[in-house]
Amino acid sequence: MISKLAIAASLATALTSVAIAQDNLNGLTVGFSQIGSESGWRAAETSVTKQQAEERGIDLKFADAQQKQENQIKAIRGFIAQGVDAIMVAPVVATGWDDVLTEAKEAEIPVILLDRGVDAPEDLYLTSVASDQIKEGRVAGQWLVDAVGDADCKVVELQGTVGSTPAINRKQGFEEALAGHDNLTIARSQTGDFTRSKGKEVMEGFIKAENGGADICAVYAHNDDMAVGAIQAIKDAGLKPGTDIKVVSIDAVPDIFAAMVAGEANATVELTPNMAGPAFDALSAYLADGTAPEKFIITESKLYTPADNPQGEYDTRKGLGY
Ligand code: AHR
Repeated sequence: MISKLAIAASLATALTSVAIAQDNLNGLTVGFSQIGSESGWRAAETSVTKQQAEERGIDLKFADAQQKQENQIKAIRGFIAQGVDAIMVAPVVATGWDDVLTEAKEAEIPVILLDRGVDAPEDLYLTSVASDQIKEGRVAGQWLVDAVGDADCKVVELQGTVGSTPAINRKQGFEEALAGHDNLTIARSQTGDFTRSKGKEVMEGFIKAENGGADICAVYAHNDDMAVGAIQAIKDAGLKPGTDIKVVSIDAVPDIFAAMVAGEANATVELTPNMAGPAFDALSAYLADGTAPEKFIITESKLYTPADNPQGEYDTRKGLGY
Protein backbone atom coordinates (compact mmCIF):
# COMPACT_ATOMS: atom_id res chain seq x y z
CA MET A 1 0.00 0.00 0.00
CA ILE A 2 1.25 3.50 -0.80
CA SER A 3 1.85 5.39 2.42
CA LYS A 4 0.52 8.89 3.08
CA LEU A 5 4.14 9.98 3.35
CA ALA A 6 4.94 8.67 -0.12
CA ILE A 7 1.92 10.44 -1.58
CA ALA A 8 2.92 13.67 0.18
CA ALA A 9 6.50 13.31 -1.06
CA SER A 10 5.47 12.72 -4.67
CA LEU A 11 2.99 15.60 -4.50
CA ALA A 12 5.76 17.85 -3.19
CA THR A 13 8.07 16.74 -6.03
CA ALA A 14 5.34 17.39 -8.58
CA LEU A 15 4.62 20.83 -7.15
CA THR A 16 8.32 21.69 -7.07
CA SER A 17 8.81 20.75 -10.71
CA VAL A 18 5.74 22.79 -11.69
CA ALA A 19 7.19 25.72 -9.73
CA ILE A 20 10.60 25.33 -11.39
CA ALA A 21 9.00 24.99 -14.81
CA GLN A 22 6.86 28.11 -14.25
CA ASP A 23 9.82 29.97 -12.84
CA ASN A 24 11.80 29.76 -16.04
CA LEU A 25 9.36 32.19 -17.66
CA ASN A 26 9.91 34.80 -14.97
CA GLY A 27 11.53 37.86 -16.54
CA LEU A 28 11.08 36.70 -20.15
CA THR A 29 9.65 38.98 -22.82
CA VAL A 30 6.84 37.60 -24.98
CA GLY A 31 5.27 39.48 -27.89
CA PHE A 32 1.56 38.93 -28.46
CA SER A 33 -0.08 39.96 -31.72
CA GLN A 34 -3.81 40.02 -30.99
CA ILE A 35 -6.41 40.32 -33.76
CA GLY A 36 -8.38 43.17 -32.21
CA SER A 37 -11.53 43.38 -30.14
CA GLU A 38 -14.29 42.20 -32.45
CA SER A 39 -16.12 40.10 -29.84
CA GLY A 40 -16.70 39.61 -26.13
CA TRP A 41 -14.73 36.39 -26.39
CA ARG A 42 -11.74 38.22 -27.88
CA ALA A 43 -11.81 40.79 -25.06
CA ALA A 44 -11.77 37.95 -22.52
CA GLU A 45 -8.87 36.22 -24.26
CA THR A 46 -6.88 39.47 -24.12
CA SER A 47 -7.60 39.92 -20.38
CA VAL A 48 -6.79 36.31 -19.53
CA THR A 49 -3.53 36.43 -21.53
CA LYS A 50 -2.38 39.58 -19.73
CA GLN A 51 -3.32 38.06 -16.38
CA GLN A 52 -1.54 34.75 -17.14
CA ALA A 53 1.59 36.65 -18.19
CA GLU A 54 1.56 38.77 -15.04
CA GLU A 55 1.17 35.71 -12.79
CA ARG A 56 4.26 34.15 -14.38
CA GLY A 57 6.39 37.30 -14.29
CA ILE A 58 6.40 37.61 -18.10
CA ASP A 59 6.84 41.00 -19.72
CA LEU A 60 4.05 40.83 -22.34
CA LYS A 61 4.39 43.14 -25.34
CA PHE A 62 0.83 43.48 -26.57
CA ALA A 63 -0.04 44.63 -30.11
CA ASP A 64 -3.64 45.11 -31.28
CA ALA A 65 -3.84 44.51 -35.05
CA GLN A 66 -7.30 46.03 -35.49
CA GLN A 67 -8.40 43.10 -37.69
CA LYS A 68 -5.58 43.61 -40.22
CA GLN A 69 -3.11 40.89 -41.14
CA GLU A 70 -0.60 43.51 -42.34
CA ASN A 71 -0.57 44.98 -38.80
CA GLN A 72 0.06 41.51 -37.37
CA ILE A 73 2.97 40.93 -39.72
CA LYS A 74 4.41 44.35 -38.85
CA ALA A 75 4.05 43.62 -35.11
CA ILE A 76 5.76 40.23 -35.44
CA ARG A 77 8.64 41.81 -37.36
CA GLY A 78 8.89 44.38 -34.56
CA PHE A 79 9.03 41.61 -31.94
CA ILE A 80 11.78 39.87 -33.90
CA ALA A 81 13.77 43.13 -34.13
CA GLN A 82 13.41 43.60 -30.35
CA GLY A 83 14.72 40.06 -29.77
CA VAL A 84 11.77 38.85 -27.67
CA ASP A 85 12.03 35.38 -26.12
CA ALA A 86 8.83 34.09 -27.75
CA ILE A 87 5.95 35.29 -29.90
CA MET A 88 2.26 34.48 -29.64
CA VAL A 89 -0.11 35.31 -32.47
CA ALA A 90 -3.85 34.89 -32.98
CA PRO A 91 -3.85 34.83 -36.79
CA VAL A 92 -6.77 36.78 -38.26
CA VAL A 93 -6.80 34.69 -41.47
CA ALA A 94 -5.26 31.35 -42.39
CA THR A 95 -3.03 32.21 -45.34
CA GLY A 96 -0.06 34.53 -45.90
CA TRP A 97 2.12 33.68 -42.91
CA ASP A 98 5.01 31.71 -44.40
CA ASP A 99 7.47 34.60 -44.81
CA VAL A 100 7.12 36.18 -41.38
CA LEU A 101 7.06 32.80 -39.59
CA THR A 102 10.22 31.83 -41.46
CA GLU A 103 11.85 35.06 -40.27
CA ALA A 104 10.94 34.22 -36.66
CA LYS A 105 12.32 30.71 -37.10
CA GLU A 106 15.58 32.04 -38.54
CA ALA A 107 15.84 34.35 -35.51
CA GLU A 108 15.30 31.24 -33.32
CA ILE A 109 12.24 32.74 -31.65
CA PRO A 110 9.53 30.16 -30.89
CA VAL A 111 6.08 31.12 -32.17
CA ILE A 112 2.83 29.90 -30.60
CA LEU A 113 -0.50 30.20 -32.41
CA LEU A 114 -3.52 31.05 -30.29
CA ASP A 115 -7.15 30.17 -31.08
CA ARG A 116 -6.88 30.15 -34.90
CA GLY A 117 -4.77 28.14 -37.31
CA VAL A 118 -2.60 28.93 -40.33
CA ASP A 119 -2.00 27.29 -43.70
CA ALA A 120 1.77 27.11 -43.26
CA PRO A 121 4.32 24.33 -42.68
CA GLU A 122 4.06 23.00 -39.13
CA ASP A 123 7.78 23.42 -38.46
CA LEU A 124 7.29 27.21 -38.56
CA TYR A 125 5.57 27.26 -35.17
CA LEU A 126 6.17 25.54 -31.85
CA THR A 127 2.55 24.68 -31.11
CA SER A 128 -1.01 25.79 -31.75
CA VAL A 129 -3.44 26.17 -28.85
CA ALA A 130 -6.98 26.18 -30.21
CA SER A 131 -10.29 24.38 -30.13
CA ASP A 132 -11.32 21.72 -32.63
CA GLN A 133 -13.38 24.15 -34.71
CA ILE A 134 -14.85 21.48 -36.97
CA LYS A 135 -16.10 19.74 -33.85
CA GLU A 136 -17.63 23.00 -32.59
CA GLY A 137 -19.64 23.24 -35.81
CA ARG A 138 -20.65 19.59 -35.52
CA VAL A 139 -21.78 19.99 -31.91
CA ALA A 140 -23.89 23.03 -32.85
CA GLY A 141 -25.32 21.23 -35.88
CA GLN A 142 -26.11 18.06 -33.95
CA TRP A 143 -27.94 20.12 -31.33
CA LEU A 144 -30.14 21.56 -34.10
CA VAL A 145 -30.71 18.17 -35.74
CA ASP A 146 -31.92 16.80 -32.39
CA ALA A 147 -33.99 19.88 -31.56
CA VAL A 148 -35.82 19.90 -34.90
CA GLY A 149 -36.47 16.17 -35.29
CA ASP A 150 -38.40 15.44 -38.50
CA ALA A 151 -39.77 18.95 -38.99
CA ASP A 152 -38.71 20.99 -42.03
CA CYS A 153 -36.25 23.68 -41.02
CA LYS A 154 -34.75 26.50 -43.08
CA VAL A 155 -31.51 27.63 -41.46
CA VAL A 156 -29.64 30.90 -41.96
CA GLU A 157 -25.94 31.05 -41.16
CA LEU A 158 -23.85 33.98 -39.92
CA GLN A 159 -20.26 33.20 -40.79
CA GLY A 160 -17.16 34.53 -39.05
CA THR A 161 -14.38 36.53 -40.72
CA VAL A 162 -13.82 35.40 -44.30
CA GLY A 163 -10.64 33.32 -44.62
CA SER A 164 -10.28 32.70 -40.87
CA THR A 165 -10.01 29.10 -39.69
CA PRO A 166 -13.01 29.31 -37.29
CA ALA A 167 -15.24 30.54 -40.14
CA ILE A 168 -14.03 27.81 -42.51
CA ASN A 169 -14.11 24.98 -39.97
CA ARG A 170 -17.30 25.87 -38.09
CA LYS A 171 -19.11 25.96 -41.43
CA GLN A 172 -17.70 22.59 -42.41
CA GLY A 173 -18.56 20.92 -39.09
CA PHE A 174 -22.13 22.27 -39.11
CA GLU A 175 -22.68 21.06 -42.67
CA GLU A 176 -21.33 17.64 -41.71
CA ALA A 177 -23.84 17.38 -38.86
CA LEU A 178 -26.73 18.32 -41.15
CA ALA A 179 -25.69 15.93 -43.92
CA GLY A 180 -28.32 13.25 -44.50
CA HIS A 181 -31.03 15.28 -42.73
CA ASP A 182 -32.85 16.57 -45.78
CA ASN A 183 -35.48 18.34 -43.68
CA LEU A 184 -32.76 20.84 -42.66
CA THR A 185 -31.42 23.19 -45.31
CA ILE A 186 -29.02 26.12 -45.08
CA ALA A 187 -31.01 28.68 -47.05
CA ARG A 188 -28.67 31.65 -46.64
CA SER A 189 -25.10 32.08 -45.46
CA GLN A 190 -23.12 35.29 -45.20
CA THR A 191 -20.31 36.74 -43.13
CA GLY A 192 -21.08 38.89 -40.10
CA ASP A 193 -17.35 39.26 -39.39
CA PHE A 194 -17.72 37.96 -35.80
CA THR A 195 -19.22 41.31 -34.69
CA ARG A 196 -22.53 42.09 -33.02
CA SER A 197 -23.36 45.00 -35.33
CA LYS A 198 -22.63 43.05 -38.54
CA GLY A 199 -24.56 40.04 -37.18
CA LYS A 200 -27.60 42.24 -36.67
CA GLU A 201 -27.29 43.90 -40.07
CA VAL A 202 -26.93 40.61 -41.96
CA MET A 203 -29.78 39.02 -40.00
CA GLU A 204 -32.02 41.96 -40.94
CA GLY A 205 -31.28 41.18 -44.59
CA PHE A 206 -32.05 37.48 -44.07
CA ILE A 207 -35.35 38.35 -42.40
CA LYS A 208 -36.38 40.64 -45.26
CA ALA A 209 -35.50 38.02 -47.84
CA GLU A 210 -37.31 35.22 -45.98
CA ASN A 211 -40.88 36.47 -45.72
CA GLY A 212 -40.25 38.81 -42.81
CA GLY A 213 -38.50 35.96 -40.99
CA ALA A 214 -41.59 33.70 -41.05
CA ASP A 215 -39.74 31.18 -43.25
CA ILE A 216 -36.66 30.99 -41.00
CA CYS A 217 -36.60 28.18 -38.46
CA ALA A 218 -33.10 28.69 -37.01
CA VAL A 219 -30.04 30.91 -37.11
CA TYR A 220 -26.58 29.39 -36.71
CA ALA A 221 -23.97 32.02 -35.80
CA HIS A 222 -20.24 31.25 -35.78
CA ASN A 223 -19.98 33.25 -32.55
CA ASP A 224 -22.22 34.48 -29.75
CA ASP A 225 -21.76 38.17 -30.54
CA MET A 226 -23.30 37.73 -33.99
CA ALA A 227 -26.08 35.67 -32.36
CA VAL A 228 -26.79 38.51 -29.93
CA GLY A 229 -27.00 40.91 -32.91
CA ALA A 230 -29.32 38.48 -34.70
CA ILE A 231 -31.54 38.23 -31.61
CA GLN A 232 -32.01 42.00 -31.70
CA ALA A 233 -32.90 41.86 -35.42
CA ILE A 234 -35.45 39.09 -34.76
CA LYS A 235 -37.06 41.10 -31.98
CA ASP A 236 -37.13 44.25 -34.14
CA ALA A 237 -39.02 42.21 -36.76
CA GLY A 238 -41.69 41.38 -34.18
CA LEU A 239 -40.65 37.74 -33.79
CA LYS A 240 -39.53 35.80 -30.73
CA PRO A 241 -35.90 34.66 -30.79
CA GLY A 242 -35.48 31.24 -29.20
CA THR A 243 -39.07 30.31 -30.08
CA ASP A 244 -40.05 31.55 -33.57
CA ILE A 245 -36.42 31.33 -34.66
CA LYS A 246 -34.03 29.05 -32.81
CA VAL A 247 -30.60 30.51 -32.02
CA VAL A 248 -27.47 28.36 -31.83
CA SER A 249 -23.92 29.72 -31.66
CA ILE A 250 -20.38 29.29 -30.32
CA ASP A 251 -18.24 30.87 -27.53
CA ALA A 252 -20.35 30.73 -24.31
CA VAL A 253 -19.92 34.40 -23.39
CA PRO A 254 -21.99 35.88 -20.52
CA ASP A 255 -24.37 37.73 -22.87
CA ILE A 256 -25.55 34.52 -24.53
CA PHE A 257 -26.35 33.07 -21.09
CA ALA A 258 -28.32 36.25 -20.32
CA ALA A 259 -30.20 35.65 -23.59
CA MET A 260 -30.87 32.03 -22.52
CA VAL A 261 -32.25 33.25 -19.19
CA ALA A 262 -34.60 35.51 -21.18
CA GLY A 263 -35.61 32.53 -23.37
CA GLU A 264 -34.02 34.12 -26.45
CA ALA A 265 -31.12 31.74 -27.17
CA ASN A 266 -31.14 27.95 -27.34
CA ALA A 267 -27.59 26.60 -27.40
CA THR A 268 -23.95 27.60 -27.41
CA VAL A 269 -20.66 25.70 -27.62
CA GLU A 270 -18.00 26.79 -25.18
CA LEU A 271 -14.66 28.19 -26.32
CA THR A 272 -12.34 28.85 -23.39
CA PRO A 273 -10.65 32.27 -23.45
CA ASN A 274 -7.69 30.73 -21.60
CA MET A 275 -5.45 29.84 -24.53
CA ALA A 276 -2.45 31.53 -22.93
CA GLY A 277 -2.27 29.20 -19.89
CA PRO A 278 -1.57 26.04 -21.93
CA ALA A 279 0.62 28.08 -24.29
CA PHE A 280 2.86 29.32 -21.46
CA ASP A 281 3.01 25.82 -19.95
CA ALA A 282 4.19 24.45 -23.29
CA LEU A 283 6.73 27.25 -23.66
CA SER A 284 8.01 26.67 -20.14
CA ALA A 285 8.62 22.95 -20.73
CA TYR A 286 10.23 23.68 -24.09
CA LEU A 287 12.62 26.26 -22.64
CA ALA A 288 13.43 24.07 -19.63
CA ASP A 289 14.78 21.06 -21.52
CA GLY A 290 13.72 21.31 -25.16
CA THR A 291 10.56 19.23 -24.64
CA ALA A 292 8.60 19.56 -27.88
CA PRO A 293 4.94 20.16 -27.06
CA GLU A 294 2.08 18.54 -28.95
CA LYS A 295 1.79 20.38 -32.26
CA PHE A 296 -1.92 20.93 -31.60
CA ILE A 297 -3.12 21.53 -28.05
CA ILE A 298 -6.90 21.17 -28.29
CA THR A 299 -9.25 22.88 -25.86
CA GLU A 300 -12.73 21.53 -24.99
CA SER A 301 -15.98 22.19 -26.86
CA LYS A 302 -18.84 21.75 -24.40
CA LEU A 303 -22.47 22.33 -25.35
CA TYR A 304 -24.61 24.55 -23.10
CA THR A 305 -28.39 24.89 -23.30
CA PRO A 306 -30.99 26.50 -21.02
CA ALA A 307 -30.92 23.23 -19.03
CA ASP A 308 -27.40 24.08 -17.84
CA ASN A 309 -28.16 26.80 -15.30
CA PRO A 310 -27.59 29.80 -17.60
CA GLN A 311 -27.99 32.28 -14.73
CA GLY A 312 -25.20 30.51 -12.83
CA GLU A 313 -23.00 30.45 -15.95
CA TYR A 314 -23.63 34.16 -16.47
CA ASP A 315 -22.72 34.95 -12.86
CA THR A 316 -19.53 32.86 -12.99
CA ARG A 317 -18.27 34.35 -16.23
CA LYS A 318 -19.26 37.98 -16.11
CA GLY A 319 -16.24 39.12 -14.11
CA LEU A 320 -13.69 37.30 -16.28
CA GLY A 321 -12.89 40.08 -18.72
CA TYR A 322 -15.69 39.52 -21.30
O1 AHR B 1 -10.99 32.56 -33.13
C1 AHR B 1 -11.97 32.49 -32.17
C2 AHR B 1 -13.15 33.35 -32.57
O2 AHR B 1 -12.74 34.66 -32.77
C3 AHR B 1 -14.24 33.46 -31.53
O3 AHR B 1 -15.16 32.42 -31.59
C4 AHR B 1 -14.86 34.73 -31.93
O4 AHR B 1 -15.76 35.28 -30.99
C5 AHR B 1 -13.64 35.54 -32.13
O5 AHR B 1 -13.80 36.71 -32.70
